[in-house]
Amino acid sequence: MESRRKLILVCEGSDCKKAESKALRKSIEKELNSGEFKGQCKLIRTKCMDFCKSAPVVIVGEHVNKKATLKKVIDQLKKS
Ligand code: FES
Repeated sequence: MESRRKLILVCEGSDCKKAESKALRKSIEKELNSGEFKGQCKLIRTKCMDFCKSAPVVIVGEHVNKKATLKKVIDQLKKS
C-alpha cells in the first residue's frame, strides 16, 4: 500500500506575513516535528495564493484554511 505525506502549504506572501504567518508556520513545524504527525507531513512555504483578505492562509491537503490558526490546521490534519 502506498503511503503519502500530507502536504501543508503555508502562504508567506506580504498580507499573510502581516497576519503573522511566519510565527504560525513555526508553530506548525514544531507540532509536526514532535507530535503524532511526525514524518507524515511535508510543509511548503508559498508565495501569495490569492486569498489575501483571509490571511493567514494555510492549505492542508485540498482544504483551504482561511484566517488559519494552529488549532484549525491540526484539526484539519486529523480529519484528512
Ligand atoms: S499574501 Fe497570502 S494569500 Fe495573498
